[in-house]
Amino acid sequence: MEHLCAFYFSGTGNTRHIAKFLTQRLSSRFETELFDVASPISDGALQKADVVLLAFPIYGSAPPIPMREFVARFRSHWAGKRVIIAETQYFFSGDGAASLGRTLEHYGARVIAAEHFNMPNNLADCKIFPIRNGEAAQKKVRRAEKRASAFAERILGGKKRRRGFHTASHAVGYYCQRKYWRKNEEKKRTQLKIDPTRCVGCGACVEKCPVANLKKENGKTVAIGKCVLCYRCVNLCPKSAITLFGSAPPAVRYKGIEH
Ligand SMILES: Cc1cc2nc3c(=O)[nH]c(=O)nc-3n(C[C@H](O)[C@H](O)[C@H](O)COP(=O)(O)O)c2cc1C
Repeated sequence: MEHLCAFYFSGTGNTRHIAKFLTQRLSSRFETELFDVASPISDGALQKADVVLLAFPIYGSAPPIPMREFVARFRSHWAGKRVIIAETQYFFSGDGAASLGRTLEHYGARVIAAEHFNMPNNLADCKIFPIRNGEAAQKKVRRAEKRASAFAERILGGKKRRRGFHTASHAVGYYCQRKYWRKNEEKKRTQLKIDPTRCVGCGACVEKCPVANLKKENGKTVAIGKCVLCYRCVNLCPKSAITLFGSAPPAVRYKGIEH
């Protein structure tokens, strides 16, 4: 049996859900293992994989920093690997999957399948896109699961689907979002705002931050400037004290789908 290793990054659980779902569907053909790239990963895991599944949320038509760093750190291991990409988004990325796929192909991998999955929005402090919890979120998840089932069937049947690899998708992803996003991304890493009048120093965000960007100082949480913009802390803070892109703390937080 061939070995499939799935590596995911997930801020608020959507991508973890899709990565788990796909891995389970593909387990009829492959021996599977699932890894979170925010945890320490040895290169042995990647080396033994015949097929690699990479799953990540899209941010401004770009893959998140931890996933880009993971791909670059193991750059010498990609040659000859068959790669499947699963990207989650609220509704639009243009070439989200392909934006990482091109890097992987540059390192010698072959992207055999790529798909985008619309999932609930987690950008809680942005007033333009609504946050949905409960049944509305679950409905969207069920649609994504249906798409993931079909995607897995296509992979198992040897059929090709490489969402986002068309030249037009590339142009749309780049000119509508990534070009501007990339300019801001580095700056935003240092701009997480924690309102000290709301923060009660409970430490929930410190414990759950995937990149140890948060610490407690004099009973309050402070950020140390290496945020990866995943929105986990913004959504889990019980006092809604944290914001990143918004000018005010979120009125409604995304609760995630696996609670
Ligand atoms: C900083 C940021 C930027 C985002 N940009 C986009 C985007 O460009 N297009 C989109 O459709 N969704 C966008 N989203 C929504 C997420 O990609 C989507 O909710 C994703 O499923 C979250 O996955 P996660 O729960 O695994 O973190 C963005 C979310 C964040 C936090």
